[in-house]
Amino acid sequence: MIHASLSLDPAFRIGPVRRRTFGSFVEHLGRCVYTGIYDPEAPTADEDGFRGDVIDLTRELGISTIRYPGGNFVSGYRWEDGIGPVADRPRRLDLAWHSTDPNTVGVDEFMRWSAKAGTEAMMAVNLGTRGVQEALDLLEYCNVDAGTYWSDQRRANGAAEAYDIRMWCLGNEMDGPWQIGSKTADEYGRLAAETARAMRMIDPDLELVACGSSGVVMPTFGEWERTVLGHTYEHVDYISAHAYYWEEDGDLGSFLASAVDMDHFVESVVAAADLVRAHKKVGKRVHISFDEWNVWYQKRAESQPPTGKDWPVAPVLLEDTYNVADAVVVGSLLISLLRNTDRVHSASLAQLVNVIAPIMTEPGGRSWRQTTFFPFAQASQLASGEVLRVEVQSPLYETARFGDVPVLDAVATQDEETGEVVVFAVNRSLDQELGLTVDLRGFPGLRVVGATSLSNPDHTWQASVDDDASVTPVDNGTASTDGESLTVTLPAVSWNVVRLGR
Ligand code: AHR
Repeated sequence: MIHASLSLDPAFRIGPVRRRTFGSFVEHLGRCVYTGIYDPEAPTADEDGFRGDVIDLTRELGISTIRYPGGNFVSGYRWEDGIGPVADRPRRLDLAWHSTDPNTVGVDEFMRWSAKAGTEAMMAVNLGTRGVQEALDLLEYCNVDAGTYWSDQRRANGAAEAYDIRMWCLGNEMDGPWQIGSKTADEYGRLAAETARAMRMIDPDLELVACGSSGVVMPTFGEWERTVLGHTYEHVDYISAHAYYWEEDGDLGSFLASAVDMDHFVESVVAAADLVRAHKKVGKRVHISFDEWNVWYQKRAESQPPTGKDWPVAPVLLEDTYNVADAVVVGSLLISLLRNTDRVHSASLAQLVNVIAPIMTEPGGRSWRQTTFFPFAQASQLASGEVLRVEVQSPLYETARFGDVPVLDAVATQDEETGEVVVFAVNRSLDQELGLTVDLRGFPGLRVVGATSLSNPDHTWQASVDDDASVTPVDNGTASTDGESLTVTLPAVSWNVVRLGR
């Protein structure tokens, strides 16, 4: 066994636990919408055709915000296609995913689903094939009470109350050559600034997200953020970050260290945003909306869109099946998001259902939880109050991608109201248990009220529709306190949660 230690102190805080850290994403992509959230043929379908089982699992996950309707899809989307009587709605080509969208689900259906699931909508506007006017029309449809063309259309379509959507994404991944209507940083920056300025004329208190780079590997990364924020800084609240570089390709050690990469990504985007702040000589800070992140096996066959004359409705796309190591990495990425809570103010696990998702469904049938469901649900349900800055003393191990990396990744939260302190920890060792000691002298009287570990001797174990319960977080009986410290043994390749209370 190897050993590591953590020091916690109630005085060392990073910032609040933000509910929006636990957001997700529903795109018109593959089976996320059709047969995912919406499936009138499913046994649990309600009067609106929404799957009750998916709503229940969304609640169990503790999802806060949901980004909608894309993603790449939004850059070719006409939102007006998705309102009014369903029978009159056009079927359209979805160029992003080489599919057909029947438009059975549109903004009104999504907002109805969102209310049932208890989530907050984060709406994206199309700045690929469209522009300022269409964004204003959608905003008027969603947020103006009544008495104008679009607000009255919404009322006529059954929604008497305005949706009052707070967060809006100004396009999606506009730096990506794959994006319909992709732009240079100057072109996009100007359009985003104009759109933001006009949207605020309708609703000054909107929270607006400018597109950052599609990823750290983009050749324009950094310069894109600087240029876009040069145009938009006064008009937006967030710059987006997207990252999917993490998959196990035969180097498990590097894969388990993925959070090192996420920390570095956040640090780089913050540096670019703060550089613009310095140039502009303003007090305001632009924060990060990490609105697409996950493990994604991009080279797998299911990730490839159809081709040629085949334009199916809701094809199987991006339906990754996750194993235990993937869940441990997702847990570690959540630790990174919490650790960066001072600058990451919102995040979305991409995506919610069927498409690189924690929830899977059979069309017209059953649903199940992937391994990645559990770290997300635990972090979302148990992190509350303030994120504490932890001091980690850990053995290092060598990785091909990131050099020497600590075996232990950890963060802690403290809820002053309940008095509860929660430690979230990952053991990245491939083959050794990790004995962890947590110095609790700053929190006298705390005792263990619960401890769980998610691991398996075979870290490649995957859940399926027939078995999603053989490997879940189980009680870790090794956790104990002696008044001054907590000791616990963390299995190799594991995600762990220890709750301390009085
Ligand atoms: O989440 C899948 C896709 O990944 C999104 O549509 C796009 O924004 C990103 O490249």
